[in-house]
Amino acid sequence: MSAASRILAVIVSQIVLGFVASADDVPALVPYPSKVRMLGGKSQTQSVKVLKDASLGSEAYRLSVRDDGVEIWCSSSAGEFYARKTIAQLRSDNGTLPCLDIEDAPHFSWRGVLLDESRHFFGKDVVKRILDRMSDYKLNLFHWHLVDSQGWRIQIDRYPELTKRGAVRPMPDWEHWIRDDGFGEYGPFFYTKDDIREIVAYAAARHIRIVPEIEIPGHSRAVIMCYPQFSCVSMDVFMDMIRTSGKYDQAGAVCLGNDDVIRFFENVLDEVCELFPYDTVHIGGDECPRDNWKNCPKCKARMKAKEIADASGLQSWATAHFVKYLADKGRRTVGWDEILQGGLAPGAIVMSWRGHEGGIAAAQSGHEVVMCPHLYCYLDYPTGEKDDRCAYPQFCFLEKRRLPLEKVYSFNPYEGMPKEHHRYIVGSQSLNWTESTWSEKDLAYKMWPRTCANAEVLWSGPGARTFNDFQSRLKRCNSARWD
Ligand code: ACM
Ligand code: ZN
Repeated sequence: MSAASRILAVIVSQIVLGFVASADDVPALVPYPSKVRMLGGKSQTQSVKVLKDASLGSEAYRLSVRDDGVEIWCSSSAGEFYARKTIAQLRSDNGTLPCLDIEDAPHFSWRGVLLDESRHFFGKDVVKRILDRMSDYKLNLFHWHLVDSQGWRIQIDRYPELTKRGAVRPMPDWEHWIRDDGFGEYGPFFYTKDDIREIVAYAAARHIRIVPEIEIPGHSRAVIMCYPQFSCVSMDVFMDMIRTSGKYDQAGAVCLGNDDVIRFFENVLDEVCELFPYDTVHIGGDECPRDNWKNCPKCKARMKAKEIADASGLQSWATAHFVKYLADKGRRTVGWDEILQGGLAPGAIVMSWRGHEGGIAAAQSGHEVVMCPHLYCYLDYPTGEKDDRCAYPQFCFLEKRRLPLEKVYSFNPYEGMPKEHHRYIVGSQSLNWTESTWSEKDLAYKMWPRTCANAEVLWSGPGARTFNDFQSRLKRCNSARWD
């Protein structure tokens, strides 16, 4: 076909198909690929050929769309999966694809979403729908917050009480800021081991790995409700502390002087590692009150025996213990940025949530960092939209905690960090804490499209594109239809 007749054919086919697209049109892709070259014209092909290119990274791909077929080049099934996700977003309602070439690879390797199912439990079907949507935006990590003071949600054979008593909230208003309007007793809600295996397989089919979180040593009231002997204080004192609990959940710390507590968490981690085939396990470490340890004979004895100077050192000792325990099982530990206090064992990954500072310090001492400062990444903060009818806890209403889409998009994981440390930042995630989120509808409203903004920052790298450009693609993107 001559060049002139080819152009004529393209024009005719566009008229026939009802299109007036020009070669400059930006395809409605979210996240946007590294390089896109529009060739003009549409293809109606259904043919897709997959070719190996070992020089590409495991999640990278190249894609060409022509009249007579689509070709994907990749080095692994993840690259092919992402290429097919791109094709799905490119396909118009009438089935055509724009003719183009794409080269694409992610900027960050940790592109995550956290779901808190302790405060409210959503169940398998909701989790699967989240995993589906995550994969549409090339997110590859599901951080599953399965235990906290407000409920234990994972079957552990050795400790059945955890999912009998620990998975039930005895009072609807366990704390004044947790609103369970209309519910009586909440639970028992938890995942059986078969449920977990099913979700792990479902996620793996979408190239999503799961990082389970077992909170140690704070946020552990549900554990102590089941095993009162794991507290530094008597049950009477424990219940008093719950009734008068302030921000830092004084009752929620387990006794680190008690060897049975250490064995308990080791045994729990053994069963968790059997269920999750990935190399990383999260052990929490955040917001742990230490006052009980200062007056507890067992904790004081531990500090003396190990020559630990203070209660903060006691937490560092426990963290180091579990980092080593998991390393001996071939796993890496992730913890919230508090685990940096008092020094941190090599190899542990720091999740910087209170701001960028923890991550900057962690990178300086050679630790990998997941940078997820709350002011940019916590989706339990209000959207600021006029039609936002969701409930939020009181503490989320501070002006600086308003988190509109544009602010999520403006997030720079490297902010304040010297260039030579950028390599320690493995990525980020958006976080769905659910103290006041108990319906799938509210959860979805809070998650989407803000999670898309975080996904594009993580795939493309901070500052690679503008918010206006993102917004205009998002409006047209065929996987961003929320109802
Ligand atoms: C956290 O929000 N306490 C990690
Ligand atoms: Zn103690």
